[in-house]
Amino acid sequence: MAKKVTKAVIPAAGLGTRFLPETKALPKEMLPIVDTPTIQFIVEEAKASGIKDIVIVIGKGKRSIEDHFDANPELESILEQRAKTKILETIEKTNDMNIYFIRQSHPRGLGDAIYTARSFIENEPFIVMLGDDVMRDKVPLTRQLMDSFHKTGASTLAVKRVAHKDISKYGVIDPQQEVEPGLFNVKRFVEKPSPDKAPSDLAIIGRYLLTPEIFGILEQTKPDAGGEIQLTSAIDELNKTQRVFAHEFKGERYDTGNKLSWLETNIQFGLRHPEISTDLRKYILNLAKELEQQK
Ligand code: G1P
Repeated sequence: MAKKVTKAVIPAAGLGTRFLPETKALPKEMLPIVDTPTIQFIVEEAKASGIKDIVIVIGKGKRSIEDHFDANPELESILEQRAKTKILETIEKTNDMNIYFIRQSHPRGLGDAIYTARSFIENEPFIVMLGDDVMRDKVPLTRQLMDSFHKTGASTLAVKRVAHKDISKYGVIDPQQEVEPGLFNVKRFVEKPSPDKAPSDLAIIGRYLLTPEIFGILEQTKPDAGGEIQLTSAIDELNKTQRVFAHEFKGERYDTGNKLSWLETNIQFGLRHPEISTDLRKYILNLAKELEQQK
């Protein structure tokens, strides 16, 4: 019987250079999708999947993430007095989660950020959730990975088909065999290959379920040319001693990691937001007409 998965690590120590100057003083994880910080969606996915304990790996200038997940009794009682129940619910949604913080003092890459969480995880399988991707599906993606793990007992990471021209932005799998629909055995995991060298169009999309043996491997993993310890390299190594599966995600994925896709995500979520959807739709349709006339 596979061990229960109850803990997740959210690395949030990156410098956010793709979003400068905004990220000079504010963490990219706090960039809003309409009215909600991106990292809140990630924590809600963890909660909906049955995760109880989360550790967020932060670095310099990330204190607002701690404040965001702290309860705010003063604000809560004011909202209560004013009977602002709906708003109150939005700020209390994840108050019942156990959220801890670790500081990664030198940003040395994703692999190193995960390694800092080793004593929190102890000897248990755990989830890694990257903040750039917001996922939507009937069953949350993290839960899908947990369900798969309960059957296989093996590390499993989420992949999604992306356009071939975009493949070099991702870790990529070299699939061996589709052992059941949407579940792949993997020959190799390659970090950010050029399109001509990419073994497939199945990209790693920021949700991983890993066995604790990954820590021993991360300890031995040498930094790459850019000085970063790559999680993908450690996973490739892990796959040589125990199976690592790739689970193909069929739901919606919203990339918030660069300027254009962040704006697109905001429009998509805005169009579903009960307060603003009608007006935003009107605005977009009018704007499209105007742009058409200017052609
Ligand atoms: C990281 C990982 C990469 C993965 C990607 C998903 O890259 O290193 O393997 O495909 O996240 O978003 P980053 O986006 O941090 O450069």
